[in-house]
Amino acid sequence: MLIDGHGRTVNYLRVSVTERCNFRCQYCMPEKPFSWVPRENLLSFEELFLFIKVAIDEGVNKIRITGGEPLLRENLDSFIRMISEYKNDIDLALTTNAYLLPEVAQKLKDAGLKRLNISLDTLKPDVAYKIAQKDVLGKVLEGIDKALEVGLKVKINMVPLKGINDSEILDIIKYCRERNIKVRFIEYMENRHASESLRGMHGREILDKVKEGHTIRALGREGASPSFNYLLDEKYEFGLIDPHKHDFCESCNRIRLTAEGHLIPCLYFDEAMSIAESVKKGDIEGAAKVLATVLKDKPKENRWSEDNPDEEKDVSTRAFYETGG
Ligand code: GTP
Ligand code: 5AD
Ligand code: SF4
Repeated sequence: MLIDGHGRTVNYLRVSVTERCNFRCQYCMPEKPFSWVPRENLLSFEELFLFIKVAIDEGVNKIRITGGEPLLRENLDSFIRMISEYKNDIDLALTTNAYLLPEVAQKLKDAGLKRLNISLDTLKPDVAYKIAQKDVLGKVLEGIDKALEVGLKVKINMVPLKGINDSEILDIIKYCRERNIKVRFIEYMENRHASESLRGMHGREILDKVKEGHTIRALGREGASPSFNYLLDEKYEFGLIDPHKHDFCESCNRIRLTAEGHLIPCLYFDEAMSIAESVKKGDIEGAAKVLATVLKDKPKENRWSEDNPDEEKDVSTRAFYETGG
């Protein structure tokens, strides 16, 4: 079992396979970064898998593939198959913008993928264009339909932004409820790479909007999930991911691996240690040592400040496109 320096059990590994993305979401990568990680620095699937095996053998039972946009990495299904064949009871999921999903959903399912979390911030084509800076909505909706059709479990992530999509919270609930899929509203996390003018909604403000059309009842946090769940009209469950809340990190169970092999203990901070050298040499013990050190030093909590929605918030310098959120 993997235990961090604050006594939390870590069983969840998020693996980013590329920092590149085919969208330019305002809250993540509004402009193409000054430089990409050179392709030769990317770890191969075999190298990433060597570390994944170490993590699984030490107790990780939940793996999420992220990006950037993970579907940009060629033959992603072969990577998924490596993991699912090594241990098929792993909770193996992918977070994607769904743009490329219509073509690959079936292949991913056949390779052993179980779940998908998909970003859907709006149901209006012009708003989608404004957020992602590209005409994306048609493909995204097609991608969601295809995922459901091939039998993948789907959750939707929405980041409500003031003056952009904040009027669509009830519409997104309706869309998800009709398809029997769960939506999680995510508080915008301030970071140095996002568009400066963005203003996120506090969890409390998001819930107030939901209450305009429905009754809600708090259910609580589901295990170590970042999502706090609510029951809408006593029937439909949705979630709120609220990292500005002080108890958010108490049950954190996850670490992140980037496509070039940086092992990141917390999404907020820049600190990381590389496993690249170890996995390139096939050095399992070396990789396990890095993992142990990262766990020992995992921060207690992030620094996104709580409560007063109008006060200046701490801003993370870490790029979400590198860590996969
Ligand atoms: P489930 O297993 O389906 O609950 O997945 P997940 O919520 O862990 O994955 P997803 O990739 O959908 O992440 C949803 C949002 O939660 C993203 O915006 C993440 O950045 C955010 N999130 C996940 N883990 C953390 C964390 O440790 N800290 C912070 N601040 N946000 C997180
Ligand atoms: N704040 C909150 N959520 C974000 N995501 C990306 N950047 C941010 C941010 N700055 C979300 C995306 C995606 C998930 C992995 O992370 O919407 O659903
Ligand atoms: Fe790409 Fe996702 Fe970042 Fe949008 S949030 S730019 S889709 S990685």
